[in-house]
Amino acid sequence: MVAGTAEAHTSSDTGMSPEEELPDDGKIFACAEAPYQGVNSQEAFDYSSDGKKISMRVGPVADTLEALHAEDEHFDIVFIDADQRDAVHYYSFVMDNHLLRMDAVICVENTLMKGQVYLENVSDENVILPVQSGLSIVRRIPVPPDAVIESKEEVVRDDVFWGYNRRRILDRLRLDGKVAYVTGGGQGIGRAFAHALGEAGAKVAVVDLVLAKAEAVVSELSLKGIKSLALAVDVSKPEDVQRMVDAIVARWGTVHIACNNAGINLNSASEETSLEEWDKTFSVNLRGLFLCCQAAGRIMLNQGYGKIINTASMASLIVPHPQKQLAYNVSKAGVVKLTQTLGTEWVDRGVKVNCISPGIVDTPLIRSKELRPLVQRWMGDIPAGRLARTTDLQAAVVYLASEASDYMTGHNLVIEGGQSLW
Ligand SMILES: NC(=O)c1ccc[n+]([C@@H]2O[C@H](COP(=O)([O-])OP(=O)(O)OC[C@H]3O[C@@H](n4cnc5c(N)ncnc54)[C@H](O)[C@@H]3O)[C@@H](O)[C@H]2O)c1
Repeated sequence: MVAGTAEAHTSSDTGMSPEEELPDDGKIFACAEAPYQGVNSQEAFDYSSDGKKISMRVGPVADTLEALHAEDEHFDIVFIDADQRDAVHYYSFVMDNHLLRMDAVICVENTLMKGQVYLENVSDENVILPVQSGLSIVRRIPVPPDAVIESKEEVVRDDVFWGYNRRRILDRLRLDGKVAYVTGGGQGIGRAFAHALGEAGAKVAVVDLVLAKAEAVVSELSLKGIKSLALAVDVSKPEDVQRMVDAIVARWGTVHIACNNAGINLNSASEETSLEEWDKTFSVNLRGLFLCCQAAGRIMLNQGYGKIINTASMASLIVPHPQKQLAYNVSKAGVVKLTQTLGTEWVDRGVKVNCISPGIVDTPLIRSKELRPLVQRWMGDIPAGRLARTTDLQAAVVYLASEASDYMTGHNLVIEGGQSLW
């Protein structure tokens, strides 16, 4: 949300006006002192397609600010024209009444000398971008640890207050500088994991049996400015897995985050399950996952840091029905036990091992001729009333890959819309 004491300006970078650049639920409050300004502007705004995002408030700006405060509004940008008589009071009101969100900014137009002609004892540290034409961008910075806090109440200043390692919670979820890989990253859940880790700041190797799929995801990531690498690997082959780890280390120096996600699902009644189906399932879902954990784990143990996130399944907890998938269910129960064992064996050497167990996720995996007709039946078993989307799993993988989950190991994080509880 944006509030301003001036009428909407056109952004010189994009040629778009601010309301066009706002998301659909974005709002701009324009505070106009004089009624005639307000009426004319609102008419013009109403005429334009994005005008609904603009609300014109006419009257003394101080009253408008009081009203916005009473309405409990919060702003990402507050724009103040310092030419106005009471500009400093507007600034103080916004700050004192918390109208500005935590990481938000105040843009002050027509400032001169970083606002020093208007303010006494102004601290340069608060001014991050003084522009020659007179625009200053003011950002609230976190209170420094040695700051004297004047408060009537006793303020508890511990890690909860400052943030662990002086990092606030959303910063602790960032993965900047980290190197990750995702197996089975060419589609479905793995693709969503690759995007999530990349968006959080990691470099991502997208690993898949099919190189073209991995390359397609790498193209998507490149469009978002995420550094990535496509690798063709069959996780069930030890030489392929070693080649994967070597290639990542050769490119980026190490591996911090290993997402062992590749898996297959084959269906047959247990009395008819062939050894071939059993072996094929286990060679990808369990042997392949073990090989990846071991190869990445060796590097992580050596550097004393690593996050391994395995993809198990709700099938590790319940017996999904009516489909018959003995080998799959048993292999996924094996993934959980492997995760628990490594999670406890390696934790004191800095390597955390956890797994995510999704419920039924709408990916190509469930679009086989055996499974597709079952979707409506499954729906009745899911309290959330829908299949999982791959995006439902993204925050979990970022959390498990980040320092925010450092005390978590050997855990099976179940995300199934409540299905395993019914
Ligand atoms: N979709 C679901 O409902 C669901 C539910 C729970 C768990 N899971 C698990 O999530 C993981 C991903 O599932 P998905 O739904 O995205 O599947 P998917 O079939 O859509 O994608 C799997 C990807 O893994 C790749 N792959 C297959 N074998 C491989 C191998 N040997 N080496 C390297 N890559 C290989 C495939 O090429 C494919 O791109 C699997 O482990 C699966 O068991 C899926």
